[in-house]
Amino acid sequence: MQDSISPSSVLHRFMNLLVALILLTGLPLARAQEWTRHQPEPAPKGPWSDKSLSPDKRADLLIQQMTLEEKISLVHGDVGEQSAKKSLGGAGYIPGVPRLGIPDLQMSDGRSGVANIGRTGRYATALPSALANAASWDLQASYDFGALLGKEIRDLGFNVSLGGTANIIREPRNGRNFECLGEDPLLIGKMLGSELKGTQDQGVIGNINRYAVNDQETGRQIMNVIIDKRAMQETDLLAFEIAIKESSVGTVMCAYNHLNGTFTCEDPYLLTDVLKKSWNYQGWVMSDWGATHSTVPSARAGFDQEMPDGKFYGDGLKAAVEKGDVPVARLNDMVHRILRTEIALGIFDQAPVLRPVNPFTGAEVAQRSAELGMVLLKNANGQLPLNASTIKSVAIIGEHADAGVLSGSGSDQVTPAEGNAVPGNPYGWHPSAPLKVIRARLPKAQVTFDGGGDIARAAKVAAAAEVAIVFVHQHTGEGFDVRNLSLPHNQDNLIAAVAAANPHCIVVLENGGPVTMPWADKVSAILEAWYPGIRGSEAIANIVFGDVNPSGKLPVTFPKALEDTPHPTLAGLKYVPENELHYVHKEFPPFDANYDEGLKVGYKWYEAESKTPLFPFGFGLSYTTFAYSSITATPGKGLTVTFQIANTGERSGAEIAQVYALLPASAGEPFERLIGWEKVPLTRGESKIVTVSVDPQYLSIFNVEKNSWELISGDYKISVGGSSQSTPLSTTVHIANSN
Ligand code: BGC
Repeated sequence: MQDSISPSSVLHRFMNLLVALILLTGLPLARAQEWTRHQPEPAPKGPWSDKSLSPDKRADLLIQQMTLEEKISLVHGDVGEQSAKKSLGGAGYIPGVPRLGIPDLQMSDGRSGVANIGRTGRYATALPSALANAASWDLQASYDFGALLGKEIRDLGFNVSLGGTANIIREPRNGRNFECLGEDPLLIGKMLGSELKGTQDQGVIGNINRYAVNDQETGRQIMNVIIDKRAMQETDLLAFEIAIKESSVGTVMCAYNHLNGTFTCEDPYLLTDVLKKSWNYQGWVMSDWGATHSTVPSARAGFDQEMPDGKFYGDGLKAAVEKGDVPVARLNDMVHRILRTEIALGIFDQAPVLRPVNPFTGAEVAQRSAELGMVLLKNANGQLPLNASTIKSVAIIGEHADAGVLSGSGSDQVTPAEGNAVPGNPYGWHPSAPLKVIRARLPKAQVTFDGGGDIARAAKVAAAAEVAIVFVHQHTGEGFDVRNLSLPHNQDNLIAAVAAANPHCIVVLENGGPVTMPWADKVSAILEAWYPGIRGSEAIANIVFGDVNPSGKLPVTFPKALEDTPHPTLAGLKYVPENELHYVHKEFPPFDANYDEGLKVGYKWYEAESKTPLFPFGFGLSYTTFAYSSITATPGKGLTVTFQIANTGERSGAEIAQVYALLPASAGEPFERLIGWEKVPLTRGESKIVTVSVDPQYLSIFNVEKNSWELISGDYKISVGGSSQSTPLSTTVHIANSN
């Protein structure tokens, strides 16, 4: 049947939608008009405009036309008055060269959405944290996450997305763990590669940061990380390598720290030998903000662009080139890398068009991502899912659970829509209130609330309800590390009291990384929701009430206690004043962070040291059950692992089936490593044969003497299962290195 809609009502609906979008996106018209004045003139034509030529050729043709001053202007940020007027208010701005059609670079942060855009009065979608995305182990979901980020970056007028870190979680207290994608290089590399590809497919330049081994915030500007070459290659660098190769990301950001005695932004090993030569990286290297420390050593090391200003790469670099201390060819290489990337990713040929961000699409992607990344850690006696049609009363307990969900702070902070959901609170709360969402799901039940500040009162409220759901949080952010892994604000005691008052106690965690759970044995269910973004509570409710069957798995080990981790005392901690949280201080005396756990990062540490974690890497429950059978492992170019998996429970669900390898003893790695995984959706009763192909590099070790990866000949134990500590299938396969 056809709807009879008059043209005027179509127009009316369109106008309503437009007004709604403008209101929702908070796009002030004045700002939009101002922005249109920044639109570049139509690009001047020249031989470099020929799109049939390669990006490299076109970049070279442009360089032939450029003056020394123009080249220098492209290799550093500009914070001057003129640029401030043209900048869209993102983290960085670099004026282009209008006479040649070279566009301005407008850079915005964002690992979980276009960050801090609120200061310009505009709206961007708050996605879940990068760590939540990683917990989905879902490459398509990660692509969609990156694509949404890239689309909004572009819609808001930016053309460089400073999104995505490949730093490994080796320090559970690191304040920036929520920006990371876990503790395993393969998981990080694949998931981040997919995300960055999604971003760049939207016609913006992506970025991978902060290269490398920038794994804690305490003293980040002055700390010297000590790590041996093999360990570095097989852990943090491997994560970067995989992500860069999977995505052909356009920019790499070097980090604040020293690495084995050299600032990362002036380290020839990192920048030239590894990144540009060994990995054949074609993009450019920019500094973290203020992480450039020299002109000539940096230029000679292979460093390309200083951000956010030109202390070393402005007049200093110009003089060094004129004197011959930095060869013109090196400067041309910096500029070439920038221009070829702009051309290859389409930002040279197509000026950005400002569009309002579509908050509805954003919310859908954010919710789906949150649902896929939540990890069900405990579910005693099938406590979850709750049956919304029979439940009579629920107590919602927890600070701000009536207002919103928490996010991580710093350069990845997405401005909460319509202001902080907890006005005046120092942390960013997104307006997705658990209480409101759960009340809407249970119109006939009694839903009570207690903020948890008075533990005895909260326990009373919990005791009066059929079920108690406790929302707890741990704020983390850039610029500081947490002092310990306990939940702050007396929340451990709150949970213990609620669990004592009500045998049906469900804990929902909103946190940036691993936390300890002294109450884990006492509660019925634990749901790890991370920082879940703008639709966090809707996603939590969908899992709690069973509309979504959880499938996320931990991308990071949760230890039982800080004492079980490689470094019970954080490097540099002795310089941090008591009661002070923000400790990025440059004033500390330089200190070493000695990562002598080497290769034993995350789950490898716990296996090698025979320590049982609270929840292992790769772990996560489902509302259904899976059975594994029939493993075969066939060597070839790498390895092919085949096995069968069946859904043996009552519901459809998806299993993240993981493949681990124990290398021959001569490899010197007496602990397993992840070599592949597959997300397998299965309806009730269904079974599937799964094949995982393993790249030879993922089975290899880094041979420092040969300075290359080496596949060791010998017997490999291959294990398959649902977590690093639950691998019901295993087989041994002989692999011969024919080289
Ligand atoms: C952070 C980077 C960020 C930059 C620009 C730095 O403090 O470490 O991740 O991209 O600021 O905001």
